[in-house]
Amino acid sequence: MSFKTLGLGIAIMVALTVLITGKELYDTASSPKGFYISPDDRELVALGRVLYVSHCAACHGAKLEGQPNWRERRPNGRLPAPPHDASGHTWHHPDAVLFDITRNGFVPGRTAPEGYETDMPAYAGILSDEEIVAVIAYIKSTWPPDVRTLHDEVNHNAWQRQIKAHAATP
Ligand code: HEC
Repeated sequence: MSFKTLGLGIAIMVALTVLITGKELYDTASSPKGFYISPDDRELVALGRVLYVSHCAACHGAKLEGQPNWRERRPNGRLPAPPHDASGHTWHHPDAVLFDITRNGFVPGRTAPEGYETDMPAYAGILSDEEIVAVIAYIKSTWPPDVRTLHDEVNHNAWQRQIKAHAATP
């Protein structure tokens, strides 16, 4: 089976999961195996754009450019908001991790070191799981084709790691 066919199959599985319930969507998201958010779903991207403007742009920038000097910690030790465009490292993370960070903020021991302090809010209770998926779909839709291809590989590698981790469990 080619990577494309596999990707499509997984996308369909995820789409079905999305149709079932947000809870199941979240369960899928918490185990990154196969979790995929489509930047080609126009309705999803349109909704995500509106949500991005009202919930994310204040920090991450109207053009997804991030805050100035985003690599340098502030005097309080916290990092500014990084860009979500191709110049940032958002695309270095698989969809499941982007979903997790947006929904739960940085969780020590999972997406951040112990005791980590951050200005990134958690959106659980503010945005529904479907809305979080839409925002990420919008962010992904702004990436140029080469970055999207690289990001598909990031997703693919995350699924492979997950499959191997399951296989290694006795
Ligand atoms: C109050 C400011 C603020 C708002 C609003 C905000 N963020 Fe963030 N976000 C941050 C900061 C600061 C970081 C970097 C935190 C760190 O590394 O300690 C961050 C990091 C992230 C990351 C990780 C990026 C990476 O490359 O590691 C994601 C994903 C993210 N934000 C998504 C969102 C989304 C989606 C929204 C809107 C729903 C949003 N953020 C709204 C401040 C904000």
